[in-house]
Amino acid sequence: MDHRIAVFGGLLLVAFLVCSEAPIVKMTNVFCESYNKSWVVIHYCRLKAYSRNKTSLHINSTFIEPANNIFLHLKMMLKASGYKPFLFDYTFDGCEFMRKRNHPFSKIIWNLIKNVSTVNHTCPYVGLQVVSDFHRIEIPISLPTGEYLLLMDWIFDGKPQYATNVDFTFVEDLFPKSSTHG
Ligand SMILES: *[C@@H]1O[C@H](CO)[C@@H](O)[C@H](O)[C@H]1NC(C)=O
Ligand SMILES: *[C@@H]1O[C@H](CO)[C@@H](O)[C@H](O)[C@H]1NC(C)=O
Ligand SMILES: *[C@@H]1O[C@H](CO)[C@@H](O)[C@H](O)[C@H]1NC(C)=O
Ligand SMILES: *[C@@H]1O[C@H](CO)[C@@H](O)[C@H](O)[C@H]1NC(C)=O
Ligand SMILES: *[C@@H]1O[C@H](CO)[C@@H](O)[C@H](O)[C@H]1NC(C)=O
Repeated sequence: MDHRIAVFGGLLLVAFLVCSEAPIVKMTNVFCESYNKSWVVIHYCRLKAYSRNKTSLHINSTFIEPANNIFLHLKMMLKASGYKPFLFDYTFDGCEFMRKRNHPFSKIIWNLIKNVSTVNHTCPYVGLQVVSDFHRIEIPISLPTGEYLLLMDWIFDGKPQYATNVDFTFVEDLFPKSSTHG
């Protein structure tokens, strides 16, 4: 179908407003690692079943020392056999973002997690950092159906300290559900 080919060919991270019928985005795995346990201690990092098609993300960690200089390195790749380049590979200043909310892409992530996390303030970050029951995933972009890996490295003072990686499945919903019955 022409429409489908056009969509596949045309977009990777191209803005494509997903209207009322959201595509299915399901987190399938989460992995957290502290590279420096004298700075970041992970208490738990897991997915729970939320409903049949949904999981919710729970992360609880402690920053033992204040983090005043935080960069977030985001990489996303499509999981497939063989080599796939990163769909994006992007680093931004987290402290500046919290002051200015100035990156359109980071804003998407911020809008998703602001309600369910303890990150709603400016730097420094110290002590308990929690993402609890994150399950409402509404993203204003579309991706080809597939399995993805989102790698997030947290860089404090220029050195990676913490990784939070999430696998997810994205199922396109190109056709409104109301027209598919029957
Ligand atoms: C590990 O964390 C400690 C405590 O905050 C810090 O002083 C040290 O520089 C960090 N090490 C590295 C390699 O980042
Ligand atoms: C879950 O997925 C099934 C099959 O894909 C679908 O029929 C159902 O509407 C979905 N439920 C929710 C709550 O999205
Ligand atoms: C996070 O984990 C710590 C240590 O296990 C615990 O004391 C704290 O209550 C937890 N906080 C939340 C919000 O889950
Ligand atoms: C955030 O919380 C407010 C108030 O509880 C709610 O109206 C809004 O829909 C929530 N947004 C998200 C993205 O969960
Ligand atoms: C974030 O914090 C600001 C300032 O404290 C507050 O006005 C805003 O409502 C908060 N946003 C959310 C989503 O909690």
